[in-house]
Amino acid sequence: MTLPATELSAGLPPCDFTVFGGTGDLALRKLLPALYQRELEGQLPSGTRIIGVSRTDLDDDGYRHVVREALHTHVTADELDEDAVRRLVGRVRHLTLDSHDPEGWHLLHDLLKDRPTDERPDLDSGDEVVRVFYLAVAPALFGPTCERLGAADVVQDSSRVVMEKPIGTDLESARAVNDAVGRVFCEQQIFRIDHYLGKESVQNLLVTRFANTFLEPLWNSRWVDHVQITVSETLGVGDRGGYYDTSGALRDMVQNHLLQLLCLVAMEPPTYVGRETVRDEKLKVLQALKPMSPEDVDHSTVRGRYSAGLVDGVPVPSYTDDIGHPGSSTETFVAVRAEVQNWRWAGVPFYLRTGKRMDRRISEIVVVFKEPPHAMFPHSEGVTAPNRLHIQVQPDEGMQLHMTAKEPGPGGIRLRPVSLDLSYATTFTQRSPDAYERLLMDVIRGNPTLFMRRDEVEAAWTWVEPILRRWQTAPDRPKRYPAGTSGPTAAATLLERDGRHWQESEA
Ligand code: BG6
Repeated sequence: MTLPATELSAGLPPCDFTVFGGTGDLALRKLLPALYQRELEGQLPSGTRIIGVSRTDLDDDGYRHVVREALHTHVTADELDEDAVRRLVGRVRHLTLDSHDPEGWHLLHDLLKDRPTDERPDLDSGDEVVRVFYLAVAPALFGPTCERLGAADVVQDSSRVVMEKPIGTDLESARAVNDAVGRVFCEQQIFRIDHYLGKESVQNLLVTRFANTFLEPLWNSRWVDHVQITVSETLGVGDRGGYYDTSGALRDMVQNHLLQLLCLVAMEPPTYVGRETVRDEKLKVLQALKPMSPEDVDHSTVRGRYSAGLVDGVPVPSYTDDIGHPGSSTETFVAVRAEVQNWRWAGVPFYLRTGKRMDRRISEIVVVFKEPPHAMFPHSEGVTAPNRLHIQVQPDEGMQLHMTAKEPGPGGIRLRPVSLDLSYATTFTQRSPDAYERLLMDVIRGNPTLFMRRDEVEAAWTWVEPILRRWQTAPDRPKRYPAGTSGPTAAATLLERDGRHWQESEA
């Protein structure tokens, strides 16, 4: 049974949703459109306010204008309902705040304390309102902003803070950020977003594995030969070159999104889906990743960087031209052979790869099963392929099970590869919400299941760090791959050496 969207929010206290960086790209492109969609569904608790905080000199009306424009730009025309836009904009306030100026923090204190009670006359002023502080600001400001929130005396037991990745650039800096934030908010109040966990298809991975019986007996080293996880993008670094050049694909994608996907594929079934149970199981997977020695890094990782090429038939410049830094050694592509050292997965490689400016945009997980133990059909060699389950995360969510069938016809048994195909677009008629819609509502409802816990973030850095360290000292630089291709040839060799190859689905 599913509850109507409005009922999911019934009884929730109102929320003061404060967005630091309220005029920034993330707020205007993702957060406000996501809140709008939830407004449209009637899910925002009554009395909720959205407070944009920025240094821009704007009053409430000026910011409302900015928000209205953003909604008209980032919400598709068929989803724009002027009544819902009016309702959302009516919730919006703006506070001009220079974080070094104590006066601004006093104003924030007063704004949060003196809230109108007209929509919830049952509440006393300031009582029971959930305060969410969304830090849509540079990561260097996470700690200082929390410290000032604490000093401004606006953090209550029911308050929550939300942070985006990157949380640190290595284990030590991640710990420092977590410590700084943790001095003001306790772990249960901290929501670390990995937007991949909010994607419908990623949540569906849990359902596919644990709400069906037929996969579980096969989901182990006895029957699975290996797993491939690919997140391939056609976009380059755009105007994020400053950030990206200090990050690279390993920190930007593997440390978080790809490892989270790996966790969901590899984790044990939790007893129930609870606030901590799923995160506990994911943590065990991260802790079971085989640590890499410098030799392992040389042998089991490939880093690449795009040179000029053609993407979708359009010429694009090289990475170094994109960022205007010819001396850069940052990677825009990574392939890694990882191993999960536990009973279920012993000896099963997990191949991860991600890159920018590739030949197509696709995110998918491929589970490749072992060959049947005995080839009983004559002349089947070269005709059959091992069973494979392709789980497409984006752009077209779906699943294909590749198997072998008998080709119809008399005169013996001829075998042919076929696939069972599930397309979500044709199976379900509902709109698929954007990841942020789900995640922001989880913050408002106080459900941290789909957010990264401190120990997960730190365990991921623990595994990634030896790769970073080795790359810093290794003599070779990222291998070039022309934009619009599937990455450097060394990435293909990584699998060929093991007698395997990347499974390229049709995009
Ligand atoms: C972000 C990375 O976390 O994820 C970007 O910083 C990347 O570099 C993006 O482009 C990919 O997200 P999606 O949802 O488009 O696959």
